[in-house]
Amino acid sequence: MEILGIDIGGSGIKGALVNAETGEMVTERHRIPTPSSRKPGDMAEVVKQIVDHFNYEGPVGCGFPTIVKNGVCASPGNLDSSWLGVNIDELFTQATGHEFTVLNDADAAGYASMNYGVGKGRKGLVIMITIGTGLGSGAFYNGILLPNFELGQLPYKKYDKIEQWAAASAKERENLSYEKWGKRFNKFLKYVELITAPDLIIVGGGTSKKWKEFSHLITIETEVVKAELMNHAGIIGPAVACLREQHHGHLT
Ligand code: BGC
Repeated sequence: MEILGIDIGGSGIKGALVNAETGEMVTERHRIPTPSSRKPGDMAEVVKQIVDHFNYEGPVGCGFPTIVKNGVCASPGNLDSSWLGVNIDELFTQATGHEFTVLNDADAAGYASMNYGVGKGRKGLVIMITIGTGLGSGAFYNGILLPNFELGQLPYKKYDKIEQWAAASAKERENLSYEKWGKRFNKFLKYVELITAPDLIIVGGGTSKKWKEFSHLITIETEVVKAELMNHAGIIGPAVACLREQHHGHLT
């Protein structure tokens, strides 16, 4: 079954049709920049433009860059604070006329890796980390999602959240080399390892495309691998999650 997957990020909103049984993208990715207001109405308008672009009938799976509890935004993350308490499912359904399955973006990317990527068949605790505007995290125990892990929210030194120091947006803002930024990312991974003792860490998100530039700076004990679906995991994952919800009425 082909399902439209949408990956909503702080800088871009991306969509593609996905064969949700095989986990393959069957169209090119269509990307529209996230409106600079990052407000619900403006972003819903862009989501509608993405849906219209594909001329698609059917349910939509959507990865969203905040805590998502039963379709409701439970913390605005790097988006406008007016997102807090918004029922994202309902907002996007009203804007597009399509049924939506919305889940946290890193949880969604993890879904793709656990079902079709490097995480497939991996037991124990697998942590997905996505590097983008924020640092996203998704946790899977024996393949089952533990939703809304928020490891990027740990305070660090003068920063409210470590993601403000170690995400791709910090690299950009401070114009850091991969060498400098990679050391920060490694520090973040050290905390992830210390707190969660994972069996595997999968690194995805936009910056994972530059894996060769920083992977040599990762020195933790835990096995750390690149999500080979890379940036596409953010689109494939929500489509897979959407299919599961259609079949089982829940995500796990
Ligand atoms: C949010 C997370 C999100 C991550 C990546 C963080 O700021 O708190 O929910 O997964 O950014 O988008």
